[in-house]
Parts: sequence; structure tokens; C-alpha cells
Amino acid sequence: MSVLTVTGLSQRFLDKQLYQDASFQVNEADHLGVVGQNGVGKSTLIKILTGSLEPDAGTIVWKKHLNVGYLDQYVNLKPGQTIMEFLRTAFASLYAKEAKMNEIYADYAADPDDELLEKAGTLQQELEANELYDLDTKIETVATGLGLDAIGLDHPVDALSGGQRSKIILAKLLLEKPDMLLLDEPTNYLDVSHVEWLTGWLQEFEGAFIVISHDFDFLEQVTNAILDIEFGTITKYTGSLHQPCGKKRPITRPT
Ligand SMILES: Nc1ncnc2c1ncn2[C@@H]1O[C@H](COP(=O)(O)OP(=O)(O)OP(=O)(O)O)[C@@H](O)[C@H]1O
Ligand SMILES: [Mg+2]
Repeated sequence: MSVLTVTGLSQRFLDKQLYQDASFQVNEADHLGVVGQNGVGKSTLIKILTGSLEPDAGTIVWKKHLNVGYLDQYVNLKPGQTIMEFLRTAFASLYAKEAKMNEIYADYAADPDDELLEKAGTLQQELEANELYDLDTKIETVATGLGLDAIGLDHPVDALSGGQRSKIILAKLLLEKPDMLLLDEPTNYLDVSHVEWLTGWLQEFEGAFIVISHDFDFLEQVTNAILDIEFGTITKYTGSLHQPCGKKRPITRPT
């Protein structure tokens, strides 16, 4: 089933036509890699898909109620907040419910009304089902996987380098586990061991994703389809990349 349908997409900047009347679909099991030369329009495509750039022509139709997450490098980091506090914001709605539950328990202590106890109990069950009490462990697993433990989770977010900043934004996105991910070069700034960890995470991810990368070994491992942008066209191939005559390029049948 399709989660995204792009039809008749055209975009040009000055005299450079990035794509002309391009159409493709993304299905719910697609782990899609985007390849193409530098400046061909890969990042621009993600900007169009997220709605941050209005294309010259074309329609972008997302499946209804699909929760799409993308790496927003311009996200505001609150000065003074620690990395751990920032990562906990991935679960903001669960923490808000926990605060609400505690409030109800406090009300019950002041006025023992069974209805209050029932309400708090329902919330507690929901929070336990969502593993509220394991969230810090989840955060630590992702943080270690991406190498954030080396910086220290109590490190303030306003004193981070650009690379560290990218890593914490990626970590938060993975913790949020949206239905679909849009990732523009997520392995930038990651060491080999952290790329390996991310590879495993993406292989196990149950939703769809679109990932731009120049790292063909990484793409080979995490994708099951490729979008190739070349000469103003976007072609979708199922299957993976391989290297005929030593040249890495997508193979197999266009869909
Ligand atoms: N807002 C803009 N105004 C004018 N030109 C732009 C704009 N955004 C991108 N471009 C140009 O469009 C082309 C495609 O840019 P884009 O960043 O999408 O390429 P890319 O495929 O992601 O490249 P890379 O592999 O280097 O990341 C480039 O030539 C870029 O300079
Ligand atoms: Mg780019």
C-alpha cells in the first residue's frame, strides 16, 4: 500500500532543471535510498516532501494520519537544557500524562474519591503499556548507539558542535519512532561503529523511510529500493545497489 504518491513533480532553480514531470510512489514497506550526483536535487526533494519548499509543479499526496519524522537541523534547542532533557522531549506526551496521573493521585490523597483512583489507574496502565519506566534505558541505548555517551548526557545542548547537534537531533527522531522517516545524510558525523549501530536500527525499523546517502555500503545494507535522480528524471528501482564493472549504481527493474 502506498504511503506517498508524487505525481508530475517539476522543480528548477534559475537555469537548472532538477526534475521534470517526475512521478513515483513510496509503499509502506519501502526502505528507500536516494542517490544522485552532488547538486542533483536530493535534499531539495526531501524539502518538497516535508512541505518546506513548494515545487514549481506537481502533487505530493501522503497517506492520511501518517506520522512523518524528519531530521530538522534548525530545530530550536533550549539553552541550559541537558542532552538527556532534550532526548526526553521525544516522549513529551507520556511525561505530560505522568504529571496528570500524579496530580490525580494528589487530589485523591486530599479527597479519597473512588472515581479519581480509577482515572489515575487507567492512566497508570496506559503509561506502563507505553513503557514509561523504561524510557531512560531506551534513551541510553540510542545515545550510546550514536556515540552521545562520549559527550555525556548531562552536557548542556547549547555547548555542542554542529556534528554533535546533528547527532542529538537524530537520536531524538529515532526515539520518537514516527511511522515514516525522512533522513538526509544521517551518517554524516558518525564514526564507523555508530554507522553500524544505525544500520541495525534501520534494518529493524518497521515503518517506511527515505534516506539520502553517498555511502553505498550503508545504502546497500539498509535499503530495499532506490530513487535515482539523474538528468532531470527520478527513477525508482526495487532491489538494491550493486557494482557492475566496478561502478556503483542502481540495478533491476524500474517500477
Ligand atoms: N533555495 C535555492 N535557491 C536556488 N538554488 C538552490 C536552492 N536550493 C538548492 N539550490 C540548488 O539546487 C541544486 C540542488 O541542490 P540540493 O541541495 O537539492 O542537491 P543535493 O542533491 O542534495 O546535493 P548534495 O549531494 O551535494 O547534498 C544545487 O545546484 C543547489 O545549489
Ligand atoms: Mg544534499
